[in-house]
Amino acid sequence: MELIQTIQELRSKLNLLRNEGKTIGLVPTMGALHDGHASLVKRAVAENDVVVVSDFVNPTQFNDKNDLAKYPRTLEADCELLKKCGVTYVFAPSVEEIYPEPDTRTFSYPPLDVVMEGKYRPGHFNGVCQVVSKLFLIVEPTRAYFGEKDFQQLAIIREMVRKYPFSVEIVGCPIVRESDGLALSSRNTRLSAEQRVQALSISKTLFTSVDYAKAHTLSETKEFVEKSIETAAGLRLEYFEIVDGNTLQAVNTWDETEYVVGCITVFCGDVRLIDNIKYKE
Ligand code: PAF
Repeated sequence: MELIQTIQELRSKLNLLRNEGKTIGLVPTMGALHDGHASLVKRAVAENDVVVVSDFVNPTQFNDKNDLAKYPRTLEADCELLKKCGVTYVFAPSVEEIYPEPDTRTFSYPPLDVVMEGKYRPGHFNGVCQVVSKLFLIVEPTRAYFGEKDFQQLAIIREMVRKYPFSVEIVGCPIVRESDGLALSSRNTRLSAEQRVQALSISKTLFTSVDYAKAHTLSETKEFVEKSIETAAGLRLEYFEIVDGNTLQAVNTWDETEYVVGCITVFCGDVRLIDNIKYKE
């Protein structure tokens, strides 16, 4: 495995491999890797000849400077994990390498990017699309892997690929959870022991709501989740929306569409956690 920091070096190595007919898998990350990332990487390794993992905390997708400053940076540990997974290249560029000048491109995919995270984190998806599109242009991957935990991000990236257009195949991978149910996230490392216990109510509530949904209307289920989180110790609900999994627009009844997903964002102290659950697929 090689650690590469410049676009030029990565491009020249990948060009040689591409000319030999090798397939290239890309796993974009912001580092602070955990088993959720490892599952994406292992899948990429199994499905491609060459795998590039980018490890770059992208400043343009943070609308909160404090959040950017606190984002964990663990390149050395990340490289150890990636080596064990069989990765070919870790691409860990500087901010100047990716943004030698401010990126003035705008990406807008309404109605996908105006709801949920798009509403609460203005500019976030524009920043995600800026960096992911640059990575696609640099790496020219055959396939790129993203986790379903960031459900809205995955839908927006699929739309960007369709509209741009890029020829990459987007592979969505299921959420990886701790054995007690908490969705893996780089932000979990910022939870205190007490908050770690409190955060468990998020996944527990979502799982319970799947059973609850079988005998209740959609709005009763929404209320059940909202009330459960609002009354749970140490948690503050930002939003819970039950949406069509393709359009990300709120649905009012279970019969409105074939693909129904509940997306939630909750603050545990100052740690912002997201999760989702499929009610119908
Ligand atoms: O999901 C993430 O970690 C980031 O949003 C991504 C896709 C690596 C872009 O910075």
